[in-house]
Amino acid sequence: MKVSMKGIVKSFGANDVLRQVDFSVEGGEICALLGENGAGKSTLMNILGGVLQADRGQIELDGRPVSFHSPAQSLDAGIAFIHQELNLINDLPVYENMFIGRELRKKSGFIDHKEEIRQTRQLFAGLDIDIDPNARVASLDASYKQIVEIARALLMKASIIIMDEPTTSLTDPEIERVFDMLRTLKKQNVGVVFISHKLREVMEICDTYVVLRDGVVVAGGPVQETSIPRISHDMVGHDVRTEPLEQTADIGPEVLRLEDLTLEPYYRRINLAVHAGEVLGVTGLLGDGRSEVFRTVFGDMNKYQGRILIEGKPVQVKSTRQVLNMGIAYLPRNRKENAIIKDMDILDNGSIVTLERITRCGLIDRKKQLNNFDRQRKDLQIKMGKPTDMISSLSGGNQQKVVLAKWLMSDPKLLILDNPTQGVDVGAKEEIYDIILQLAKRGVAVVVLSNEAQEIIRVCGRALVMYHGNICAEVSGETMNEANMMRLATGG
Ligand SMILES: Nc1ncnc2c1ncn2[C@@H]1O[C@H](COP(=O)(O)OP(=O)(O)OP(=O)(O)O)[C@@H](O)[C@H]1O
Ligand SMILES: [Mg+2]
Repeated sequence: MKVSMKGIVKSFGANDVLRQVDFSVEGGEICALLGENGAGKSTLMNILGGVLQADRGQIELDGRPVSFHSPAQSLDAGIAFIHQELNLINDLPVYENMFIGRELRKKSGFIDHKEEIRQTRQLFAGLDIDIDPNARVASLDASYKQIVEIARALLMKASIIIMDEPTTSLTDPEIERVFDMLRTLKKQNVGVVFISHKLREVMEICDTYVVLRDGVVVAGGPVQETSIPRISHDMVGHDVRTEPLEQTADIGPEVLRLEDLTLEPYYRRINLAVHAGEVLGVTGLLGDGRSEVFRTVFGDMNKYQGRILIEGKPVQVKSTRQVLNMGIAYLPRNRKENAIIKDMDILDNGSIVTLERITRCGLIDRKKQLNNFDRQRKDLQIKMGKPTDMISSLSGGNQQKVVLAKWLMSDPKLLILDNPTQGVDVGAKEEIYDIILQLAKRGVAVVVLSNEAQEIIRVCGRALVMYHGNICAEVSGETMNEANMMRLATGG
């Protein structure tokens, strides 16, 4: 099947998001759809997926004009959409999620749970996915949810699959698994639209690419004929710097120390110290326990053993509020699930942590709130309309910047950033790295949790590598290179 979108125009109010965009993909092709945060990628695919209607333009399937007024119509035509925001129902088991809207029924009309479970199990086995079909979705880590969503698209026997940033919260082995699925699909003549900010993945898996900038196609062609620096340039309109950033040498007093911190089954005997002015990296694969260690420090997981010392004083961490008041901030790993309040506006999402400080006698100082937020908006170059617009009107990467702004405004002593650049474009990543280093210069202790080796190398002075809940090595300088970190992270 070949899908062509021709002359697509779409505006939200005064914001002209797509201006005469042509885009096509066909069976057996994996096409990367690229562009800065807010360039219009999700909007274009929402139109193809029947979620949004174009103001003008046409969609053709194998040359036949079609129009989709709902996601169901697009799905019926063979187009499956894996959204940037996860779309599973947390309270249902995995297998029911696999068949939502297309339930299998017995002759009696009742849902055939047994058959749904059987088919789910069979599909998972074929794809080497280790998930129990009966598990409740709520109990799955976000990366597994993403894998379930991809498997669901396969089950729908779609001819075209749209994947909007499918790998943002996946680790390398899982990404490899998704890529294996994609290669199989390709052989079966399925066409894939792959939206991503991870350009190395694009070079590895995609055949063709299209770059959108401000709602216009500015580049495209076979992936083999381009390069990461060129695509980056196409996306942001100028060269993106790649040399290592300068680290500060002035390390101040100790801000956080962990002594034999243990919380089974997640991690054990964790010993580390972070000082003012330093950027410490912590890396590893899924299940390494790094997020759990720092969620404990943030009061999000209790009943730990061992000691937590903040500025040299032992602290029994009981709640998030307690550590917040001590100047500790934590940006969680999954924005979609843990960081955004969907039905609040941008300003409230951005200032929720600091509201208490600007409230007098129960009244919020609106002017202060706006001023504080506005400073962050400028620093982080958040692309948005009015502060009172809903957070959901922002593109994914810009939502991530709002979450970052929220924590920066709290002016922390210790800033823990878990997967800080998820869904952020190549240009904005560099801005975030700059901000991290500026904070360190001002004496903030920063911990960056990341599975992107390049990210650790770019901003961290030293890094700890974790494996199955243990710290297995510390790397810095010469030993802080990608090959070595990967070897350590896989238990080598
Ligand atoms: N429902 C909406 N209401 C108002 N504006 C919207 C809506 N959805 C998207 N926009 C705006 O359209 C523009 C394009 O957003 P889109 O989500 O398509 O970007 P994107 O290229 O997918 O970016 P990202 O890489 O950050 O996901 C943004 O300026 C965004 O704020
Ligand atoms: Mg998007």
